[in-house]
Amino acid sequence: MRLRVNVASEGDEVKLLDASPEGAVGQGGHVVVSGVTKTFRRARQSRLVLEKIDLELEAGEFVCLLGPSGCGKSTLLNIIAGFQRADQGKVMVGGRLVTKPGADRCVMFQKPTLFPWMTVLDNVLFGPRAQRKRTKEARAKALDLLLAFGLSGFERHYPHQLSGGMQHRVAVARALMNQPSLLLMDEPFAALDAITRARMQEFLLDLWERERMTVLFVTHDLEEAILLADRVCVMSPRPGTIHHQAEVRLTRPRSQATVESLEFLELRRAIRSTIKGDSQ
Ligand SMILES: Nc1ncnc2c1ncn2[C@@H]1O[C@H](COP(=O)(O)OP(=O)(O)OP(=O)(O)O)[C@@H](O)[C@H]1O
Ligand SMILES: [Mg+2]
Repeated sequence: MRLRVNVASEGDEVKLLDASPEGAVGQGGHVVVSGVTKTFRRARQSRLVLEKIDLELEAGEFVCLLGPSGCGKSTLLNIIAGFQRADQGKVMVGGRLVTKPGADRCVMFQKPTLFPWMTVLDNVLFGPRAQRKRTKEARAKALDLLLAFGLSGFERHYPHQLSGGMQHRVAVARALMNQPSLLLMDEPFAALDAITRARMQEFLLDLWERERMTVLFVTHDLEEAILLADRVCVMSPRPGTIHHQAEVRLTRPRSQATVESLEFLELRRAIRSTIKGDSQ
């Protein structure tokens, strides 16, 4: 796998985390969520958070999930990742039932989880080593990824010797060693300043253009959703259901200039008025 991507500035603060490498459930990023319902129970209280969620992502599709705080976006991502279980319904990824985390699904939150006692290269080689596949080929692939992410020369550095943005790119490189077919991203750019955020959006778009893995990306930001996605799914307040979906047919490759196009502004207005209509 050879990658060439635009690298974000070293000052960025995006925080990315990859999922446990165990339990791969097959190839293909086709995702089918059917009838997923989730209630959290605590003491005598129970809270219905997700109600009969149906969602399908084609392999290679980029879908953004938009919704108010507390509507269950992270819960849905966690269920697709295999970190949490649905009370009812099921999730299929690549034709296999999700029952636990797997190397085919890479989850990215706001916090990085590099191993602080390992060098950059050892962090990236963590997956192959855990699977006792630390071969020459794996090492060459890791070095290729580090080169593509602008991290050449930092192979022997430790995470604390890198900027925040560099640490997150190492985490992405580590996740990509497993060649995940599905990226689950939970507001990964939410805490960033505007300039770094724009750079990371372009970094992700560039990566996706080359790799074409399936992406499910959670955001509060409608502009971010339209810029990135093939389709924007809008969730209702709790209990969360997906009640609007909008296709985004803006031409690709996209960049920050896309945000200024007339089509972009029209689509933003249309989705915004739908959301506004719902909340009245
Ligand atoms: N482990 C848990 N135990 C109990 N309640 C939970 C748990 N996880 C989430 N919840 C509740 O479920 C609801 C949905 O939470 P979730 O984190 O999925 O929302 P969200 O849409 O991701 O919100 P935000 O946009 O603020 O991140 C919230 O009311 C939350 O308090
Ligand atoms: Mg959340």
